[in-house]
Amino acid sequence: MKKVLTVLGLMVTLGFSAPIDGYMQSLANEAKKADPSFKGFDAVSGKQIFTSEHIGKKGQNISCASCHTNDLKQAGKNTFTAKVIDPLSPKANKERLSDVKNVEKWLKRNFNDVYKREGTVVEKGDVLTYIKNY
Ligand code: HEC
Repeated sequence: MKKVLTVLGLMVTLGFSAPIDGYMQSLANEAKKADPSFKGFDAVSGKQIFTSEHIGKKGQNISCASCHTNDLKQAGKNTFTAKVIDPLSPKANKERLSDVKNVEKWLKRNFNDVYKREGTVVEKGDVLTYIKNY
């Protein structure tokens, strides 16, 4: 029991309270390794990543907001298939950012849709910080 409490205490101390926090911490560790002057993720830059338009999938000028809208607490709509997308903000939708594998899968796919490449470690951390705190 004592051991369990110690481990729990350590997890709280390190900020591993939710799986997404652990994932973001590992992104931060990677970013720091690549650039020792890295100071932490930035929601303002995350917003820029989310809302700026780029020539993406099918040569269309799109942003993340094209499908998820500029209001992350509202439902979105896939700009290619017109399918409704539940709100992206974890404050409006408890399921969001709860499954790290799912988050990784969609970030990879969605960065490719908008940027025609995968997101960098810093871009992923910044945009997740924006979404998480929206
Ligand atoms: C072409 C439409 C489209 C674009 C553009 C798009 N997304 Fe998505 N996104 C989706 C769909 C569809 C899903 C999966 C369905 C769902 O989870 O409701 C999804 C899921 C996600 C998830 C998973 C969240 C979770 O925990 O369930 C994240 C994070 C996400 N998108 C972020 C982004 C970011 C960041 C961008 C811009 C780089 C972006 N999306 C651009 C359509 C899009």
